[in-house]
Amino acid sequence: MKNHSVEKIIEEDRQGATLTLDANISNSRKLYIESYGCQMNFSDSEIVASILAKEGFNTTNELTEADLVLVNTCSIREKAEQTVRKRLEKFNAVKKVNPGMKVGVLGCMAERLKSKFLEEEKIVDMVVGPDAYKDLPNLIQEIDEGRNAVNVILSKDETYGDVAPVRLNSNGVTAFVSITRGCDNMCTFCVVPFTRGRERSRDPRSIIDEVNDLWEKGFKEITLLGQNVDSYLWYGGGLKKDYEKATEMQRATSVNFAKLLELVALAQPKMRIRFSTSNPQDMTLDVIETMAKYPNICNYIHLPVQSGSNRILKAMNRLHTREEYFELIDNIRRIIPDCAISQDMIAGFPTENEEDHQDTLSLMEYVKYDFGFMFAYSERPGTLAARKMEDDIPEETKKRRLREIIDLQQKHGLFRTQQHLGKVEEVLIEGPSKKSNAHWMGRNSQNTVVVFPKENYAIGDFVNVRINDCTSATLLGEAVGLSDAR
Ligand code: SAH
Ligand code: F3S
Repeated sequence: MKNHSVEKIIEEDRQGATLTLDANISNSRKLYIESYGCQMNFSDSEIVASILAKEGFNTTNELTEADLVLVNTCSIREKAEQTVRKRLEKFNAVKKVNPGMKVGVLGCMAERLKSKFLEEEKIVDMVVGPDAYKDLPNLIQEIDEGRNAVNVILSKDETYGDVAPVRLNSNGVTAFVSITRGCDNMCTFCVVPFTRGRERSRDPRSIIDEVNDLWEKGFKEITLLGQNVDSYLWYGGGLKKDYEKATEMQRATSVNFAKLLELVALAQPKMRIRFSTSNPQDMTLDVIETMAKYPNICNYIHLPVQSGSNRILKAMNRLHTREEYFELIDNIRRIIPDCAISQDMIAGFPTENEEDHQDTLSLMEYVKYDFGFMFAYSERPGTLAARKMEDDIPEETKKRRLREIIDLQQKHGLFRTQQHLGKVEEVLIEGPSKKSNAHWMGRNSQNTVVVFPKENYAIGDFVNVRINDCTSATLLGEAVGLSDAR
């Protein structure tokens, strides 16, 4: 009996060894993947890497040794597209020494330009839109056989909920978990609804499973991702806009964003939870109340407003007024007094005059954002603004207004970081500081970067840090011990 079982173990070992060997042989192709643009693109690249791992591709950071180069692209501003085209030139140079290398374009530019890409950029072998990544194995077979391949079909229900992402360039501490895809908002300047399709939400069970799995792997913080997270609505699948066709039963068991946040907070009470992005018109009080109720949900909201002028907000099809935005800010400050708030702003939207611009500056004065992402308006082909409005603000005026917005933001950033001086705050260590190897870099609940001497702490530790100094974007301090809230 005993012998038999020993034999069996040896047999299993052998099988295991063979399996490993097979995996090594078939995993002989090398994938190099580069991502541009929003966090969703970085998260999608992890899904792509996972789909291709099953096809025998290992990822590499060495462009020159790649069999397949994928670039996950962004269309949000013209400059983002130019950056990608420059990279394609670089890939072209590499292809001269490595002629077997294939190049695929993923993401928003793929969706926007479709097969035109193949004509415009001769180096490109494959064009794949954001909802078509599961078709990659077939498309790669096509290009292996010497044909170009294109799939840019947008989907009603693809959320990649069943794909476990391979974490790329991970610090092992923070990770993105996508919860919705697409956007129905149709802001008139924005290309996203065209490149990413209609909005759909992912099954909460698969979200929770992914979060649990991340915790087991040692991750300490997740960011729930979507173009418009507050619009999350699970009612059994399908598009958000089809919710009106949902049955009584589906409605009764539906999960909105506040509920999802609560489910995630309860599933992993020690995990830090963030989310991005919130559109003011969809953010409800119960989301803010849920944030206040669960200490593991971070006190930080990215709340893009784009402009402080009611006239411009209307022209942008942002479905709230300046006054409603202030009301939301007041509610956030009342319910979560130490909540950090950040913005996105666009300077020089068509017809914007000095008065509109002053409205933007005065809105900023009211909110005093912790930080922000600020852009000059860039006309995007196919959007309503491009079709109906002339891009009539001179480049130098856009630049000057943008400068004024950035300068004001910097002043407010400093005002906000100064509020942390002298306090002891819980920081999650993400890695070494970029500027000094003797220091750790982490973030507090408000998402502000905190830098402090390493001592004996380690990546992934929650540490209480006394804040002694600051710049307009960074806090400097010293650790006073591990956080006992964890
Ligand atoms: N809801 C999205 C917003 C996507 S775009 C999210 O999850 O981030 C990010 C930001 O880019 C927008 O908030 C807006 O400020 C900016 N942006 C979008 N289209 C733009 C354009 N045509 N010109 C300049 N900035 C733009
Ligand atoms: Fe774009 Fe507005 Fe959606 S900025 S992503 S259309 S919320």
